[in-house]
Amino acid sequence: MKVLSGIQPTGRPHWGNYFGAVSQYIELQGAEQSFFFIANLHALTTIRDADQLRQNSFDAAMDLLALGLDPEQATLFIQSDVPEISELNWILLSGTPMGLLERCVSYKDKIAKGLPVVSGLFAYPVLQAADILAYDSTVVPVGEDQIQHVEVCRDIAQAFNHTYGEVFVLPKAKVLDTSAKVPGTDGEKMSKSYGNFIEIFEPVKPMRKKIMRIATDSRPMEDSKDPETDHLFQLFKLFGSDSQVAEMADKYRAGGFGYGEVKKALADAAESYFEPARQRREQLEQNPDRVHQILSDGAAKARRKAAEVLARAKKACGI
Ligand code: ADP
Ligand code: TRP
Repeated sequence: MKVLSGIQPTGRPHWGNYFGAVSQYIELQGAEQSFFFIANLHALTTIRDADQLRQNSFDAAMDLLALGLDPEQATLFIQSDVPEISELNWILLSGTPMGLLERCVSYKDKIAKGLPVVSGLFAYPVLQAADILAYDSTVVPVGEDQIQHVEVCRDIAQAFNHTYGEVFVLPKAKVLDTSAKVPGTDGEKMSKSYGNFIEIFEPVKPMRKKIMRIATDSRPMEDSKDPETDHLFQLFKLFGSDSQVAEMADKYRAGGFGYGEVKKALADAAESYFEPARQRREQLEQNPDRVHQILSDGAAKARRKAAEVLARAKKACGI
């Protein structure tokens, strides 16, 4: 299995990013090939401040390492440190039908959110296809919203292979069941753009405050409640042990308790869940040279593989 995934450095990671995407990276990092990268070229479509993009990219790398990505097992790098990707991007873009990209919902969503209508946003899935195909990736762990992009990548690869012969390996998306949607503080999908997120590395005090302010319904305490339809319970389920979760579910069904109690249990569970990552992150902050070294070793390894695939593609299409 050859695993690859990328994460955009567009802000600090929240619980949705972790349970929807990053936790899968960690689970799969022991594969025969596992490549993870910070998609700074993709972020260029939305971030216009150079210092911010640079800082975010480095932060995102530290976040992944702190959350358990192990450079002994996985290859971690910054997307733009593999310039072969940009060359492959053009080769793929040249043969991609407009209609394929016009069907992509993430482009339409971003435009609907008021982001400037730039060509990079439109062609975004092609660059993503270059990322995936450049390393002969077979499995792409992603959140649900990215499935369409992996499908587009398959379409692009198939069309190229059809025209020029078997050059690219067709990848498959891998989505966690729990990744469907981690709810935010308002019960809607947790997202940076909805302002309802809780960051993983947020200082403990403000994090607990946010948890205590999670919206709940106003049914009386005595009522029995169905845990499965309650977003607070969905969040607790992510952090609690099996026995804690079963006990909490019983309390919901029995009624006679307050949401404050659940929130406190959630805050305790979340705090201890991320404590080791918090400590690792502090250590990495003390040692940025080590992070730079991991990234440059990762890029060298990724480039070797990408150069091989790019050479194959160039030969096939006559460049
Ligand atoms: P945001 O919606 O906050 O901008 P991104 O689009 O940057 O998040 O998401 C990065 C990754 O995290 C994607 O793979 C996405 O599927 C996953 N993800 C983000 N929010 C959630 C969520 N609430 N539940 C599950 N997965 C999520
Ligand atoms: N588009 C992905 C996101 O926004 C990030 C990404 C870029 C990616 N290239 C990729 C994910 C290649 C998987 C594979 O989350």
